Amino acid sequence: MEAIVYEEFGGPGVLHLARLDQPRPGPGQVRVAVRAAGVNPIDHKIRNGWMEGAFPTPLPATPGTEFAGVVQETGAGVTAFAPGDEVLGWSATGSYATEALAEAASLARKPEGLSWEEGAALPVATDTASRVLDELAVAEGETLLLHGAGGGVGSVAVQLAAARGATVIGTASPANHDFLRVLGAVPAAYGDGLVERVRELAPEGVDAVFDASGRGALPASIELRGGTTDRIVTIADGDAAELGVAFSSGGAPSADRLAENARLAESGELRVEIAQVFPLADAASAHALSEGGHVRGKLVLLP
Ligand SMILES: NC(=O)c1ccc[n+]([C@@H]2O[C@H](COP(=O)([O-])OP(=O)(O)OC[C@H]3O[C@@H](n4cnc5c(N)ncnc54)[C@H](OP(=O)(O)O)[C@@H]3O)[C@@H](O)[C@H]2O)c1
Repeated sequence: MEAIVYEEFGGPGVLHLARLDQPRPGPGQVRVAVRAAGVNPIDHKIRNGWMEGAFPTPLPATPGTEFAGVVQETGAGVTAFAPGDEVLGWSATGSYATEALAEAASLARKPEGLSWEEGAALPVATDTASRVLDELAVAEGETLLLHGAGGGVGSVAVQLAAARGATVIGTASPANHDFLRVLGAVPAAYGDGLVERVRELAPEGVDAVFDASGRGALPASIELRGGTTDRIVTIADGDAAELGVAFSSGGAPSADRLAENARLAESGELRVEIAQVFPLADAASAHALSEGGHVRGKLVLLP
């Protein structure tokens, strides 16, 4: 099999294509042929060596947490899936590869009407967006401020919050404001003057804040919440603890939630925005783009 591998932490240039032995599934695992792999910012953070404190990564490593693909082989005790099943979910061995292992319990079946690219783009973004909206208990009639609304997680969170009946004020650069309107958000530019702009859009205040950008918006968020950190959650801001704001980390992924979000995506109720698709061998270009921080929706690799 082929996989993207790196032997040392560093820039996108450390990524290269290599031939590896086919992995064998352990108990509870399946081996899949990867048809598409989603790219997430955590992939370049790990590759840069920035996550060693939280997720120590033995080298050599293959990046990638999510994929859509076809089951090839099942490990002991797996009864829910059989060879030939089309699935999506989380990879245990790195999804930037032609083959990968996955825990069967974390997988959902890929609906027929969903493309491989869409399937691979769903697991991390939808699980994170759904989890944080639950943590914030966003409800009908409320106003949610969402930082980073045009990104992979943000673009899904806008739609899921709007579907709950919330008004979503989403921050993005002006070039993405029409995109946010289509998704169902009221757009606001991030940066200086954000507090005033949001106050103008929500004179009654915001009920909750979802920070999906991690780029310094927490002080403004606390101000907009009237000085409290209650009902503010970030998934990416390293200053959270110092400011007393809740940081939501990915726990055990939910296969049920993934199946439900895949159903919504197939029916068109959830739009999956794919910014760009790259061949597997060009993973370095995908990482450079992701690291730039201005991707609209998701990047996907095709083995
Ligand atoms: N804790 C967790 O469980 C968890 C899970 C998933 C992701 N994350 C983290 O959450 C962050 C977002 O992930 P993602 O996949 O959504 O990233 P992403 O798709 O790469 O996010 C890119 C988006 O960020 C926007 N952006 C850039 N600068 C911004 C700013 N100053 N204010 C607001 N938006 C800004 C960009 O909008 P413009 O192009 O319009 O500038 C772009 O649409 C990453 O740091 C990721 O590692 C954490």
